[in-house]
Amino acid sequence: MWGIIATWRMAVEGIGKASEMLKAEGDAGDAIETAIKEVEDFPYYKSVGYGGLPNEEMEVELDAAYMDGDTLDIGAVGAIKDFANPISIARRLSRESVNNFLVGEGAEKFAHREGFERKNMLSDRAKIHYRNRVKEVQEQEIKPYSGHDTVGMVCLDTHGKMTAATSTSGLFMKKKGRVGDSPVSGSGFYVDSMVGGATATGLGEDVMKGCVSYEIVRLMKEGMHPQAACEKAVQMFDETLRRRRGKAGDMSLVAMNNKGEWGVATNIEGFSFAVATADQEPIVYLTKQVDGKCVHEVASQEWLDNYMKTRTAPLVEK
Ligand code: GLY
Repeated sequence: MWGIIATWRMAVEGIGKASEMLKAEGDAGDAIETAIKEVEDFPYYKSVGYGGLPNEEMEVELDAAYMDGDTLDIGAVGAIKDFANPISIARRLSRESVNNFLVGEGAEKFAHREGFERKNMLSDRAKIHYRNRVKEVQEQEIKPYSGHDTVGMVCLDTHGKMTAATSTSGLFMKKKGRVGDSPVSGSGFYVDSMVGGATATGLGEDVMKGCVSYEIVRLMKEGMHPQAACEKAVQMFDETLRRRRGKAGDMSLVAMNNKGEWGVATNIEGFSFAVATADQEPIVYLTKQVDGKCVHEVASQEWLDNYMKTRTAPLVEK
């Protein structure tokens, strides 16, 4: 058995590449890194890697993490600028015995020393999004923050090894130096090959309050199916936040156990995710809530076509 699951439609091409590697009995670490790099490199996804949306100073600061579920090794970078593939730097850091989570200048120095590819990650489209947003904020007095579509993945290979990984540009218009949940173990991701893994997308400030990825793995360890574990963790934490704080930020989690069974839960409408297993070619689902349960529907061709059309449509400066 093998499998890979990821947040959002944007992951499906990467999942396709990873599937070929996993089918050929490749390593879960190599497969997940390949899949995440595919998303980081695609210029039209505006929340991950090249083309990611900038902070309030118009700089693209990226967060990423990698975890090996066999050894429990973790590597992560926060607020790193001007490197093409934060996920590869995070994976490299996971092999160090200490200094596994580096941020800002320290992460950049490490990446430079290790020969990782430098790249100006601020695309022309991202500049237009930035300038439009500045105008909107001035004109409409709205909050500037939006866009936290992190790519997060959990992967199982034929040898029984599991990995988890994340990559994101975080909140659009965030403060310089802000780090979200995505590189934080237990919040943005967690994986243990003896059990399974989970990963999150959503408002980092809230996901971190509940360590939701770890909670899902903990529930799976108690014997829950990934779907039941995701629903319980997301619903309970969403309720807790609403009760104690009056509101809950967006939160969507995907999980897979070490049998290749998977689950997804969200507190938003229109969450999409991609999955592939030994029994299932890469596929995109949309999740909606019906009577407190998350129901997954295969995305229609029309939805898929429209998705790409919207992402690649010419941008007009307002
Ligand atoms: N979940 C991504 C972030 O809040 O930065």
